Amino acid sequence: MQNIVIKGGARLSGEVRVSGSKNAALPILASSLLCSGRSIYRNVPALGDVRTMQRLLGDLGAKITTRPAGTTIVDTSTVDNVEAPYDLVKTMRASVVVLGPLTARHGRARVSLPGGCAIGARPIDQHLKGLAAMGAKIELAHGYVTTRARRLHGATIAFDMVTVTGTENLMMAAALADGHTTLENAAREPEVEELARVLNKMGARIRGAGTHLITIDGVEELHPVEHAIIPDRIEAGTLLVAAAVTRGNVLVRDCLLEHLEAVVAKLRAAGVDVTPEDGGLRVRAKADLKPVDISTQPFPGFPTDMQAQFMVLATRAKGQSVLIETIFENRFMHVPELQRMGADIQVEGRTVIVRGPTKLTGAQVMATDLRASASLVLAGLVAEGKTEVRRIYHLDRGYDRLDKKLRALGADVRRSKGGL
Ligand code: EPU
Repeated sequence: MQNIVIKGGARLSGEVRVSGSKNAALPILASSLLCSGRSIYRNVPALGDVRTMQRLLGDLGAKITTRPAGTTIVDTSTVDNVEAPYDLVKTMRASVVVLGPLTARHGRARVSLPGGCAIGARPIDQHLKGLAAMGAKIELAHGYVTTRARRLHGATIAFDMVTVTGTENLMMAAALADGHTTLENAAREPEVEELARVLNKMGARIRGAGTHLITIDGVEELHPVEHAIIPDRIEAGTLLVAAAVTRGNVLVRDCLLEHLEAVVAKLRAAGVDVTPEDGGLRVRAKADLKPVDISTQPFPGFPTDMQAQFMVLATRAKGQSVLIETIFENRFMHVPELQRMGADIQVEGRTVIVRGPTKLTGAQVMATDLRASASLVLAGLVAEGKTEVRRIYHLDRGYDRLDKKLRALGADVRRSKGGL
């Protein structure tokens, strides 16, 4: 197993380019199942979850080409299987986004139920409620959900909570359904809007993506597309925080301010200078950092996927920061590891109180999920001495060579073999 070893203390400087968005790429790759033919996707990030999705599409019978770098070509004319097996779904919950497209186009899907994961229970009841409202027969047995429908029909579906992949699954299903679908309380995340953009290029008739109310007029058939995926706002945010905590001066290229308003507002509140420059954001942190209070919310609120990284920022600030996690019930696994490195953090239910600044010292730490791993890498950048982050496959699931990008900015980061 690989580890990442970091010697803390370097101030990051230079320029870095953000890769394509993981959470946009996953449903977009799955959307290829809605048509027959060869779709070409560009700016696809090289990361573990994308490889899992490519493997899943291959298992379903699609032909996948991943050359040249950054391009994925999916030929769905040979799809002959509708099952997403346990082994793949357990490595990546987002595999569930094949459920809508398979049901809509093939009239049938069998997808392993994802079950809980490190950050919470994460049920898919909203996905199933929507497909049932669109006329799918749903059966849960042997750890799998099976859907059947001759042709889905349009429906009005009100989500009980904002769900990103739930909105995406139903938007894809409705694109090929018979008639009009309304999705109320839909997720407004940029990745949902991006998926709608791709579906509309394929011939779908979707309006309102990016708002709480999405309407879809189903069509008989969709066609393959060529599309370049938007930059990853969470990778961008992670790099912005990396520059801030190391008191660096970094130009984060290829990121969109409109996707990062909440994150940038909190960085500025912390005393970090963030300015748009050359299709990206320049971040400079000279003065002492100030404490920030954060409550995670669906977009356009502060993203849960940036909570762990901001906790590291809070350990560098002078005073008390309060971080509240409202989306997932168990997303504080990085806390005990940050405490071992010297952070003063107190957890009370879904609230965390961080008092800073405290001296962090390097340690062997272990990541249990993607964003937690990223926060441990950030902590390693500012800790005194050597930090060894283990189980780095979590980081590689969601970041396109983060260690390499940090090294190019001057960080002392390398990979090593060994450890659990
Ligand atoms: N929920 C339900 N029932 C459902 C669906 C969701 O109760 O049927 C609950 C969840 O348990 C959670 C909340 O609703 O408490 C929001 O979950 P959501 O469905 O929005 O999460 P997701 O679609 O599974 C996506 C991202 C996550 C990101 C969340 C929230 C992808 C592939 N994943 O997950 O990304 O944290 O939205 O923004 O888009 C990550 O990249 O590290 C990551 C975890």
